[in-house]
Amino acid sequence: MLITSMLRIILTRSFKPFVFTGRNENKLKFESLEDMGLYVHIPFCRSICRFCPYFKEVYDNYKAESYKTALLKEIDLVCRNLKEKKHAASLYFGGGTPALMIDDMKEIIDKLKNYFIIEGGIGIELHPEDIKETNLDKLKKLGINMVSVGIQSFDEKCLHNLGRKNDRFEEKLNLVKSYEFDVVDVDLIFAIPGQTDKILLKDIKTAFDNGATQVSTYPFIDFTFADNSCKPMPEKTKKKMLNKLTEYCGNINIERTSVWTFARQGTKRYSSVTRDNFLGFGVSAATLLSNTFKINTFSIAEYIKRLNNGILPSSVTLYFTKRQRAVYYLFWSAYSLKIDIQKFEKMIGESLDKMFGIELLLAEKLGLLVKKKDCYELTPKSSYWYHIIEQFYTREYIDKMWNVSRKEAFPDKIVLR
Ligand SMILES: C[S@@+](CC[C@H](N)C(=O)[O-])C[C@H]1O[C@@H](n2cnc3c(N)ncnc32)[C@H](O)[C@@H]1O
Ligand code: SF4
Repeated sequence: MLITSMLRIILTRSFKPFVFTGRNENKLKFESLEDMGLYVHIPFCRSICRFCPYFKEVYDNYKAESYKTALLKEIDLVCRNLKEKKHAASLYFGGGTPALMIDDMKEIIDKLKNYFIIEGGIGIELHPEDIKETNLDKLKKLGINMVSVGIQSFDEKCLHNLGRKNDRFEEKLNLVKSYEFDVVDVDLIFAIPGQTDKILLKDIKTAFDNGATQVSTYPFIDFTFADNSCKPMPEKTKKKMLNKLTEYCGNINIERTSVWTFARQGTKRYSSVTRDNFLGFGVSAATLLSNTFKINTFSIAEYIKRLNNGILPSSVTLYFTKRQRAVYYLFWSAYSLKIDIQKFEKMIGESLDKMFGIELLLAEKLGLLVKKKDCYELTPKSSYWYHIIEQFYTREYIDKMWNVSRKEAFPDKIVLR
């Protein structure tokens, strides 16, 4: 609590918390925004994993059909005022388990293509159970060129402690590899009880040896509303493990591309959150625009009802002050380990040095940032601090937002201090 609050106060130079309210607008302004990403949330899974915080329900054919109809309506409603097709940097399908609606995807993509020219490709999260030839053939046909596979660990005991099973993971990754997607991301979790450094390094090696072009390694987080019987290992262990991962990848010439991702040199990146602006469609999806951040309702029934009435399914919106928006931008740029000076100025309309001169100077003096010609780069020390802050942010902000949203379809207010 203290770390996130202090950082918020120092960087926004204000005691004002982030206040999300039910004062939502029925029209989103995004025509003139650059670097726009698209995200579609599919909230269905075959079964529910107890460690997972994302909004999802068990798949049901009838529910999925009505959900698709509402999703198509939301796209029309959001985009109804566009005068011409807009360029979008990428489209990601996340969940949940989006492949459960694989046969609806053409309709969803075609609907989006009525309004957008999708330039950087289409990505999808896959559960290992989704990996079979019939599905991979369909993904290729849909023009999907990036996949992210939720392996979590190759180790039986770690998987057991998460409540998952190993199901011929290596064979499945090799099948994915044979389809030659531009990006194959493998999600791993570290600091699972029972996981040793040796197991973790073997996990990342196995992922790269079997076709991963990128590996995302997330520290195990115990969300307040999750049902983890095994709790994450302590922060000290997380620190040691992250150092081991970084050292190992450095030795095998794998690039650290963000605080928690490592990728083969010269490959494309799977990254749905590091866009300057994004439009999120579906229940629980977030939308980030020039001065607003909003999330959709977490109730599938209310989502459908709203769209049947021609109203956007927004639950709460935060109207940023300029400084809050700048801090939000810095936070996510720093995740990819560098802050682009020109891009900041273009986005925020003021120079980075002018807005954060004192903080940047102090960070340089403390060995947290290195100034290069057109960017500031995070050092290993600040990358570690980022890993700590990102976990605080997840527990203090995301956990709270999602916890309230799971209980109330349209809360009046959510205050993040
Ligand atoms: C939407 S989820 C999963 C995609 C897919 N449904 C699956 O289960 O394979 C995205 C990723 O978040 C990560 N994740 C989920 N819960 C987590 C937790 N409690 N702590 C850390 N990472 C977590 C996992 O690595 C997961 O693959
Ligand atoms: S981890 Fe994946 S499969 Fe498990 S509940 Fe979360 S989204 Fe569903």
